[in-house]
Amino acid sequence: MKHVIAIANQKGGVGKTTTAVNLSAALAATKRSVLLIDLDPQGNASTAAGMKKNENTLYEIYSQNLLINDQILKSPSGYDVVPGGENLIALEVLIRNEQKQGELKKQLKPLNYEFIIIDTPPSLNQLTLESLFAASATLIPLQCEYYSLEGISSLINTINTLKNKNLTENRVFGIIRTMVDMRNNLAKEVSEELEKHFPELVFNTLIPRNVKLAEAPSHKTSAIQYMPSSFGAKAYLALAGELIRRIESGR
Ligand SMILES: Nc1ncnc2c1ncn2[C@@H]1O[C@H](COP(=O)(O)OP(=O)(O)OP(=O)(O)O)[C@@H](O)[C@H]1O
Ligand SMILES: [Mg+2]
Repeated sequence: MKHVIAIANQKGGVGKTTTAVNLSAALAATKRSVLLIDLDPQGNASTAAGMKKNENTLYEIYSQNLLINDQILKSPSGYDVVPGGENLIALEVLIRNEQKQGELKKQLKPLNYEFIIIDTPPSLNQLTLESLFAASATLIPLQCEYYSLEGISSLINTINTLKNKNLTENRVFGIIRTMVDMRNNLAKEVSEELEKHFPELVFNTLIPRNVKLAEAPSHKTSAIQYMPSSFGAKAYLALAGELIRRIESGR
């Protein structure tokens, strides 16, 4: 069965791209077939996956009526990629003006992957909406800070609205605590609040603040390849394991 997972949070710098890239690498390490789609004009996931930005992006696919299936590239990290880049800013406009909403969902349907992971920009714009339409599940990376909880309610409401209108089968599948430093009292408090408010959604795996996760993109790869023994890499391998177990137990 195929799982299309959007990694979303309109707040910037919370670890969406780090999660998208390392989760893709971790799932690929378990021999599962993975496609990573970069839907962010920043193109960070593309470079971190060892690909060039602005090549074969969804903008070309939408504007030239191409098939995603013919545009997929192989990354050196053992999974496939549809890169992102600046021209996705034009895709945002194109989706709105030419009413191309839902094209991604349509195009992903015939693809044969166990996991399709979509990295989204820090905004609830047409690009993010397009991935929320297409996804069967959303994972929300979240930093345990004072304002963290405020942002996610609009994302959760958006997903619920789309669902109530039968526009998607997507649901929030999990909240992932990123860049965790439990020596920080506020982080500890917010983390406990999260467990209280969203007991079903919060993943047990904590992603620690770990410099290898931040360094890996400059080597055009994930921490899983760059330093598999690092705490960051181990945490994302554990996260992939938890995700698979949660899916298999039908949660
Ligand atoms: N667990 C971590 N430990 C240390 N550094 C991290 C960790 N996760 C992410 N970072 C670093 O924090 C910064 C922001 O992370 P990232 O780019 O993954 O966030 P994002 O949510 O995708 O950002 P944006 O909203 O701009 O797309 C990056 O420099 C990244 O390398
Ligand atoms: Mg990002």
